Amino acid sequence: MDGLIQESQFVGWVYQMDYEQALILTRDEWKLRARGVPLNCFLVAAAVSKKTDAPREILLLRVTGPMALPQDGEATQAKIEACQGRAADQARDNTKDEFQFGGLKCRVLGTFYERDGRLRLGSDIESYASAAQLAVYRPTGAALEKIINYISPERAVAAEEEARRLGLNGELPRFPIGTVRYASTDRLHRGDGAEPATFHLNAVDFLARRTAVFGMTRTGKSNTVKQLVSVVMRTGTERGLKIGQIIYDLNGEYANANQQDQGSIAEVYPEDTIRYRMIPTPGFEPMLNNFYRQISEGHNTLRGLIEGSKLPRSADVEAFLSLDFEEPRKEDSSSDHEYQRQLAQHRLKLAAYQTMLTRAGYEPPAGFEIRFEVIPGVRQKVNRTVDPANGLSPAQAYDWFDMARKIQEELITIGGASWIGPDTNVLMNLMLQKNDQGGYIPGFRLLQPFKDYHAPNRSTDVCNEIYDHLAAGKIVILDLSVGDPGQRERLGKRIARHIFQSSMAVFNAGRLPPHVVIYVEEAHNIIGRTAPLTEIWPSIAKEGAKARIAMVYATQEVSSLHPNILANTENILVSHLNNENEINELARYYDFRDFAVSLIRAQDVGFARVKTLSNPFVIPVQIDKFDPEREKRRAARGNAGRPADSP
Ligand SMILES: Nc1ncnc2c1ncn2[C@@H]1O[C@H](COP(=O)(O)OP(=O)(O)OP(=O)(O)O)[C@@H](O)[C@H]1O
Ligand SMILES: [Mg+2]
Repeated sequence: MDGLIQESQFVGWVYQMDYEQALILTRDEWKLRARGVPLNCFLVAAAVSKKTDAPREILLLRVTGPMALPQDGEATQAKIEACQGRAADQARDNTKDEFQFGGLKCRVLGTFYERDGRLRLGSDIESYASAAQLAVYRPTGAALEKIINYISPERAVAAEEEARRLGLNGELPRFPIGTVRYASTDRLHRGDGAEPATFHLNAVDFLARRTAVFGMTRTGKSNTVKQLVSVVMRTGTERGLKIGQIIYDLNGEYANANQQDQGSIAEVYPEDTIRYRMIPTPGFEPMLNNFYRQISEGHNTLRGLIEGSKLPRSADVEAFLSLDFEEPRKEDSSSDHEYQRQLAQHRLKLAAYQTMLTRAGYEPPAGFEIRFEVIPGVRQKVNRTVDPANGLSPAQAYDWFDMARKIQEELITIGGASWIGPDTNVLMNLMLQKNDQGGYIPGFRLLQPFKDYHAPNRSTDVCNEIYDHLAAGKIVILDLSVGDPGQRERLGKRIARHIFQSSMAVFNAGRLPPHVVIYVEEAHNIIGRTAPLTEIWPSIAKEGAKARIAMVYATQEVSSLHPNILANTENILVSHLNNENEINELARYYDFRDFAVSLIRAQDVGFARVKTLSNPFVIPVQIDKFDPEREKRRAARGNAGRPADSP
């Protein structure tokens, strides 16, 4: 408990107390010397003894308002009389001793004590002596830092264990995010000469946990997210810990420098940031898949699009939706011969699908060739000059299928009724715009509106690629500011599902998944009040912790979020809210009610009230401004310190 009491910060005496609250007698002069006593500020109280013994316990208090003293009535009358007796130009004379005293009401937040040499904080008081003389101080600087960054010995042990698992020596890292601020007016307690107290978010509180960022528009939510991304990146680099971070950037503010802020995450960490977009843009990776190569992903995307559209559903369309492009497995076949037959049919099916895509206007990758095998008799009959096993251009492949359909009857007599298989038949129908009876169908035309979802230059599944980046500790920014909103939502979900499922698979195999932090803006859209908890986003919010996925979500409205998820959120950062409804929603959690007045009244940007898992109470913090220039300099220094072979 060394250093918690700062003699110079004495502000008064406890004159009455119980389990819940303490009343304090204070005096203008003392308050001024301690640089003021703002509403909601922390105070510490300890028994004074004649001996030089250090106090055995120190109470932690929070100022919740003024308290009338018994003599206040008389004093007020005397003050009024003094004022009345003076002319307007006379100097005020209210400095008389009895006028200077005042009362403060405080809530008891807990008790600091020591056991086995370690500082502990109980969240109440065990007992109180009515006659005790408790001196009260307003902690600043190092003392205040100790209080707000307190972590219980149990949690510290857990943190150290986690650190060992990660191969780090000592404690897990902490992320500095701001300094204590009590009130909008901060001339004294944060002015020149005041000692700031830095607040840290413990990595154990943050990693594999949920963090909510609330506040009205333009009160610094995105800044908080940027600040978090950069401290996590910086601390991870310093400590050699890989923490992948992915930002769902709805407004493009993380991916691009905007005019107001001059600098973005992508600019600060150019080597560690990978940006994705749904439309081709220099400097961005395509967030889409190549339909010719990621066949199942592409087909899934098309299925989602068709199901979500108002397109007429003919029998052919239904058949297309229920296709499955999984490769046949050897163990599912009765014999090797049967397996080979299925494999050949599967390749023929892929060929028909790819040919149909080209027909629908989906640009094939440069130099793309379509290959498949058919029995020699069929090959001779369709076109004796080409062998599809050697590769056909998409145009040649189309001619091949067109001819095969024209002489279908003959081919059946050669190759048997099932030489093409039912799935290939469906695809040929769509490609050639004819149903089984030879009647016209729109066929591939139905797929034409979705051409933009295909990325001809991509060679791997975007989800796998993103997951690999995250596992390598990179920052991935999904710039969702451009492109179709429906597609954005579906792709966003698919990526989230892939991250969740990949990490769960690692976890279920008994290994440690990589640390991943997912940041989402406008969270009420994805984990809203009515969202079924089985959907992917609520699932991540609920169960991501197991798979070491942390989620940070930002929204303006506390009330619009799923209550179940909010109740399971370990860290809450909230800046200005403008109405009682939102405050009441929040006031149901922890001691946020103490801040109801200040949250509505103070509109200061970045002035947040923060509750973290480790801290048993809310701490008012001014979040640091994300400063791209400073971060760039830091990042440059950090990179210089990296081993030469590190990525
Ligand atoms: N802690 C801070 N200190 C100083 N300025 C800040 C701080 N936080 C944010 N700002 C500035 O205030 C403005 C609004 O911040 P920001 O974009 O983070 O708000 P927001 O809550 O995300 O708004 P919106 O709801 O519109 O997304 C920005 O110009 C930003 O630079
Ligand atoms: Mg924002």
